[in-house]
Amino acid sequence: MNLDDSTVDLDRLRAEFPILSRKTYLNSCSLGALSTRSQAYLADFQELWHEMGASAWYEHWLGRIEDLRGRVAAFWGAEPAETALLPSTSVALSVMSESVARTGRNRVVCTGLDFPTLAYQWAVKPDIELVVLESPDGVRIDPAQFEEAVDDRTLFLATSHVFFTTGYVQDLETLAGIAHRAGAYCLIDGYQGAGQVPLDLESTGVDFYTAGPLKWLLGGPGLAYLYVRRELIEGLEPRITSWFATEGQFDFDLQGFRYRPDARRFEMGTPALPTVHTALGGQEIIDEVGIEAIVARNRRLTEHLIVRCQESGMTLRLADPDHRSAIVMVRHDDPVGAVRHLGEHGIIVDHRPGFVRISPHVYNTDEEIDRCVETLAAYAL
Ligand SMILES: Cc1ncc(COP(=O)(O)O)c(C=O)c1O
Repeated sequence: MNLDDSTVDLDRLRAEFPILSRKTYLNSCSLGALSTRSQAYLADFQELWHEMGASAWYEHWLGRIEDLRGRVAAFWGAEPAETALLPSTSVALSVMSESVARTGRNRVVCTGLDFPTLAYQWAVKPDIELVVLESPDGVRIDPAQFEEAVDDRTLFLATSHVFFTTGYVQDLETLAGIAHRAGAYCLIDGYQGAGQVPLDLESTGVDFYTAGPLKWLLGGPGLAYLYVRRELIEGLEPRITSWFATEGQFDFDLQGFRYRPDARRFEMGTPALPTVHTALGGQEIIDEVGIEAIVARNRRLTEHLIVRCQESGMTLRLADPDHRSAIVMVRHDDPVGAVRHLGEHGIIVDHRPGFVRISPHVYNTDEEIDRCVETLAAYAL
């Protein structure tokens, strides 16, 4: 990959995000910044609603849904027919858990580093044996642990692309290989991956991948995206469904439910149209900047942040450089107080138990990072 961020027109990019001139914003892994472009698309949506009412659906909004699907599919290296729009990652995960035939398998393998909503899908199913792999170092899971736990009883190897409290990037091909050798499905929660890590889903071999516009894709809350590998789609029949999942959606035929042949068979009703519009704005910006430049710039910003924290005597929970992403965890005895203190100085970061979490994105600068580290250092470590 060409790690060159010289193509990023930083002034122009920053000008699209009003929060950057009001705050030092270093919390994109919780919520990406809102662009003026997303805001304008949202205003267009509202204006059409005033002007046309429901007729805007057919003339405009259904088209915007397909624009978003097409952009997301191209962005993550798949076909639109392999890409579904859902209300949240939790729904995407539960649809997949209700789509596969059990075929005598009742084990699901996930990890203690995954976002909890992943494990919850199976923890509430008494007939599932949920195996939660524990990290040896609090940062990562060794692929050998998956290899050992995933066996011929396993239905899903389900885990994250990037761990939300360590920033560790797992290798998707390795995970897909382990799952498939045991005859299991590989399901990935990519919420912390999409937008900060390059994606070419078809080439990785994963079966299911879910992400959303909220964080690194700069599109706000209210939607999730689901990739389902083409060869699998027609063999999967979700046991929860909606009128968006059927062929002849607008026939309104109660007796005539037939799963669509594409990934829309996994959809769960009307998508959040305001988010379709804000997500399109964010996705356009991500596509224009380009994922390679984003990765290059985020890597540089992250290294700068790490060096500055270490110079200030802070203790970090860090992935090794080959598996690192733009989520930096600073150990702290009072993370809630520290985040409040930073907030009082116009600096927005986040906390997780025992840590302050700082996540720069492509639009941030070294100076913002310096300001954050200096202000944090001034608060008792
Ligand atoms: C890795 C990961 N998965 C899932 C979620 C949230 O899922 P949902 O869209 O169901 O709220 C988050 C954060 O909000 C996350 O960091």
